[in-house]
Amino acid sequence: MSEPAPSVEPIKIRPMRLADLDLLMPYEDELFGSEAWSRQSYIDELADTELRDYLVAEAAGQLVGSGGVLTIAETAQILTVGVLPFARRRGIGAVMVQALVARARQRRAEEVLLEVRVDNEAAQKLYEKAGFSPLGLRRGYYDHGRVDALVMRLGLADG
Ligand SMILES: CC(C)(COP(=O)(O)OP(=O)(O)OC[C@H]1O[C@@H](n2cnc3c(N)ncnc32)[C@H](O)[C@@H]1OP(=O)(O)O)[C@@H](O)C(=O)NCCC(=O)NCCS
Repeated sequence: MSEPAPSVEPIKIRPMRLADLDLLMPYEDELFGSEAWSRQSYIDELADTELRDYLVAEAAGQLVGSGGVLTIAETAQILTVGVLPFARRRGIGAVMVQALVARARQRRAEEVLLEVRVDNEAAQKLYEKAGFSPLGLRRGYYDHGRVDALVMRLGLADG
């Protein structure tokens, strides 16, 4: 007997707007801890539409996640992915990663890189599931030298 297919809620991905920051910023510290950005950092990032794509995810009309990717020539870099705590484990992070990779591909990137804390197992699993492979460690990348980053890579050149 086969398992019933999991029900997948419709998740809408759209470009982030300045007004979204009112909803996102209250969660910033909880989501990103020592890597939290200021409102001004987001404003500056959103202004650079030439290289950067910031997206948000909505479920049932409610903002539930965000992400950003920087594409310079053939290399893209995922800068951030976050899903609001009440909306986790519903596949929203996975949809956001797919959408960021799709933007990088549209911008003709041949690879996508990212750094993730070695102690962030949830994010590592998310990226692994999206096809990223570990490339190496950047020692002491986080928390003033205390926490290493795992660098992960997804090649896009072969399709
Ligand atoms: C990491 C994060 C974005 C995942 O978002 P999410 O919407 O819950 O992820 P998904 O539901 O799409 O999960 C996709 C896969 O990731 C893995 N995963 C996600 N959360 C996990 C957890 N807490 N523990 C273990 N694996 C996890 C699983 O493999 C999962 O697939 P499954 O549910 O079929 O097992 C979310 O936990 C988050 O916002 N964390 C804080 C911010 C952060 O660490 N961002 C990443 C670094 S920038």
